[in-house]
Amino acid sequence: VIAELLPREVASAETREPGELGQLPAAEAAIVAGAAPRRVAEFAAGRLCARRALAALGHVDWPLLRGEDREPLWPAGIVGSITHTEGYYAAVAARAGQLATVGIDAEEHDRLPDGILHRISLPEEAAWIGERAGDGVHWDRLLFCAKEAVFKCWFPLTHRWLEFEGARIEFAPGEAAAEPEALAVREAPGARADGSPRAPRELRRGAFEATLLVEPPVVDGRALERLPGRFLITEELILAAIAVPRRS
Ligand SMILES: CC(C)(COP(=O)(O)OP(=O)(O)OC[C@H]1O[C@@H](n2cnc3c(N)ncnc32)[C@H](O)[C@@H]1OP(=O)(O)O)[C@@H](O)C(=O)NCCC(=O)NCCS
Repeated sequence: VIAELLPREVASAETREPGELGQLPAAEAAIVAGAAPRRVAEFAAGRLCARRALAALGHVDWPLLRGEDREPLWPAGIVGSITHTEGYYAAVAARAGQLATVGIDAEEHDRLPDGILHRISLPEEAAWIGERAGDGVHWDRLLFCAKEAVFKCWFPLTHRWLEFEGARIEFAPGEAAAEPEALAVREAPGARADGSPRAPRELRRGAFEATLLVEPPVVDGRALERLPGRFLITEELILAAIAVPRRS
């Protein structure tokens, strides 16, 4: 589904299966040697997705090492991003000649823990979320998700930290997905007729724009003040993706 949120020139791969250490080349496995099993599983799944995305761009067997600030070290001429959450792992990559930067984030679709929203939101963002309380969507979690995607775009361009108040997000949600009566007839709750798990129902999708409120990076001679994003919300998952095209 992540591909639906990104331009065609972005290669992507995603999985619902955690990975295993033994699936990684030694140089990648060494990064998480001694880490907790859950961390190893998410790291491996993310790296396996990245491997598939890179292969689609012709970079086969590139060991995706990690920089000082935990950022993945993509091959020269490639921009990319990795995300993982319980039961969903994804990576995207694109040619740097086509995209200036890309960032993706996945979160479980649940409310943020108490006390987090005020730490990650600007007053206008919190007010927008407050107006939508009780509509079945955890917009607070979407805000967090979008800001994580902003950070993953920002960091490779600047190699600097960005506070949560350093970007303002404005969402443009589409209409709520149609009520699922028709789906319910076709799909028994919990499982399909063939026994495979029921696909989580899509609740909303739409666009967003992130405005940087700090000194923006300069890309192709112009200040990159606004980042264009898209989001998707299902019963289980929230996804946010930002792709910044190069300017000619
Ligand atoms: C780095 C950060 C964005 C990761 O997001 P997350 O939701 O915690 O975790 P995700 O699973 O979605 O993403 C983790 C992946 O992000 C990538 N990542 C980590 N640090 C990164 C960085 N500095 N730059 C780019 N990507 C980075 C890595 O690939 C990592 O996975 P891996 O360690 O298995 O390779 C987050 O932990 C963080 O530090 N946020 C604070 C900064 C911020 O978001 N500011 C708000 C700006 S508006």
